[in-house]
This record gives sequence, structure tokens and C-alpha cells, in this order.
Amino acid sequence: MFKALVMEQNAEGLAEAQLKEIGEDQLPEGDVTVAVEYSTVNYKDGLCLSAKGGGLVRKYPHVPGIDFAGTVETSEDARYKPGDKVVLTGWRVGEIHWGGYAQKARVKGDWLVPLPEGLSTKQAMAVGTAGFTAMLAVMALEDHGLKPGQGPVLVTGAAGGVGSVATAILANLGYEVAGVTGRPDTEDYLKSLGAARIVAREELNETTKRPLEAETWAGCVDAVGGEMLARVLGQLKYGASVGAVGLAGGAALPATVIPFLLRGVNLLGIDSVMQPYDNRVRAWKRIASDLPMDKLEAMIRPARLEDLPQLGADILKGQVQGRVVVDVNG
Ligand SMILES: NC(=O)c1ccc[n+]([C@@H]2O[C@H](COP(=O)([O-])OP(=O)(O)OC[C@H]3O[C@@H](n4cnc5c(N)ncnc54)[C@H](OP(=O)(O)O)[C@@H]3O)[C@@H](O)[C@H]2O)c1
Repeated sequence: MFKALVMEQNAEGLAEAQLKEIGEDQLPEGDVTVAVEYSTVNYKDGLCLSAKGGGLVRKYPHVPGIDFAGTVETSEDARYKPGDKVVLTGWRVGEIHWGGYAQKARVKGDWLVPLPEGLSTKQAMAVGTAGFTAMLAVMALEDHGLKPGQGPVLVTGAAGGVGSVATAILANLGYEVAGVTGRPDTEDYLKSLGAARIVAREELNETTKRPLEAETWAGCVDAVGGEMLARVLGQLKYGASVGAVGLAGGAALPATVIPFLLRGVNLLGIDSVMQPYDNRVRAWKRIASDLPMDKLEAMIRPARLEDLPQLGADILKGQVQGRVVVDVNG
């Protein structure tokens, strides 16, 4: 028997989380069973922990947790053997498949990545989907020509998970990072991660009729979307790119095509869920080499399985700073 946070529907059809002892025979089908050590809380986890599953969970009972890291216990996949350290993000685990909010998980070997050298399972979950996606966005910006010295790089939703990791990676690579936040009290935190300056959310989340503003940003990692992404497009320098990662501020994009036509800017879509294996391995290697571990430690808020319902609600309100690391055995 092992501990799991199980979501079950009540008589009104609303899902509620309960910490339960369940047996291995209840785990879903899969070819690798992992003894989970750590999981985390991403925005999407907040949705999966909510009463209606955020439209992502299809079936109950359900174990959420879109990320986990741990040790292989049994494997029918030739690439993995008992004792191997592994990390999982994406593939809709925690949404339509049972996820990491349990002491054991069973998944397809195809979905796993060997734990990158130089990272512990705890550090891998401090990174999690949020940090992995931040790295994918930085790689996409670099692939489109971004280099240090071209001007400030904007990070929106800077004090959140994606934003915190993006800030620390970019600053470590030598970029001048400007972090957009709606929480002025996070200024010291963001500066400690390497942000050179803070931009107040109000400066960027109001619409403007002008499709082009002063050329300001050499690049942007955007976790917010909505009005803010539309404003950023009109403020990018000639030929610069924005990696569109998230929709914490809205899914609409009230923009014009003018910045594309007159400034040749690029809107790069960033998806972490279905990312091919080779690029996953590349991103995890870059995380191990380019994300300073002391900065990562400074982002961590420790938690246990029983804290998850509250943390899920908090992240949906934009109230979680940095990265939660859940010790599922704690
Ligand atoms: N594309 C992918 O594969 C992928 C992967 C991971 C995450 N995501 C998406 O990326 C986004 C961020 O995820 P996360 O895990 O980093 O969440 P998070 O920790 O909650 O960070 C989001 C941040 O956005 C800011 N924010 C929240 N509400 C806002 C609003 N109404 N207007 C402007 N800013 C707002 C807040 O930062 P401040 O307090 O600093 O303003 C908040 O901390 C989510 O939309 C998530 O779904 C996408």
C-alpha cells in the first residue's frame, strides 16, 4: 500500500481531493513503475486539482500531478532498469493519466527521461514543467538569433514558476533581464534571481491603440498572454522574438499583424507536453548546465501531499512565488 492524493467526484459531480492508501493493483497500465520521490505544482496542476478538473481531467478517481521524479522500481522497457533515476513531465500525465501526487506511478517508458547528470530528483522537480518550458523558450529565442548584448530581454509573470526559472537562466547566460510582475513585494526576490529591473504589470496589461511602440525588447519569455503579449509584440526590437508559453493573463490575443509586417518580429509557440524526446534531453542538459543551483534553491517552497489542495487554489490566483517542491514521502 502507498499514499496517493486521489480526486473523487461528490454527489454534485465536483471533484474533491483526499489523501488515501491505495494498492499497486490500482495503478493504471504502463511498462515502468516508479517510486516517486518528488513532484511539484504548476498552473496546470492547479486546474487538475480544482472541482471541475479545469476541463483537463476526463475520469475519476484521478491522481493529479503533471510532473514527478523518482527511481525505477520495475520495468518492462529495455531502456530502464530498477534503480534508474528518472524524470517525467508532460504527455498529459496528471491530466488523462494518473500522475505524480502519489508514492508510486506507472507510466509508459516513452514518456520518461533519464535524470540529467548533475541534478537530484528534488532539483528536477524544483525545475518541473514550468522550468523545463522556460528552458525550451530560451532555446527557441536563441535558435532565432538572440544573443547577449542585443538589449533587455523581458520575462512576464516573472515571480511565477516559468518566470522565475526563465529569469535565472537568462541572467546566468549574460542577458539583461527585465521582469514584469504584479507583485511589487517580489522585487528583491526577482533581483536575487538576476533581474536587472522590474516592470510593473500595469505598464503592460492595458490596451493601446498603437500597434507599434518604441523598440525596447531584444526578446521575451511570456507566461501571461492576453493584452500583455499583444503589447509586447508592438515593443519588440526589429527582428526580435517572443516565446509564447502561457495564458496566466488570458487566452485572447488582441493584437494586429503590424509588428510582424513592419518589424519582422517572431511569435514562437512553446509546447512542453508533446515535446519530442531528443529536444527534451537537450533541454534538461541545458538546465543542468545553465541554471545556477543556488538560484534554483532560492525559488523552492517545500510542501507535502496534504498541502496540495490549498496550493492548487493558490497557483490559480497567481499567489505562488517560485517553485513548489512536493516531498511525496514527507
Ligand atoms: N506551453 C507550455 O507547455 C506550458 C508549460 C508550463 C506552463 N505553461 C503556462 O505558463 C503559465 C505560467 O505557468 P506557471 O506554472 O509559471 O504559473 P505561475 O507560477 O502561477 O506563474 C504565473 C504568473 O503570471 C502572473 N500572472 C498571474 N495572473 C496574471 C494576470 N491576470 N495578468 C498578468 N500576469 C498574471 C503572476 O506573476 P507575477 O505575480 O510576477 O505578476 C504569476 O505568478 C500558465 O498559463 C501555464 O499554463 C505552459
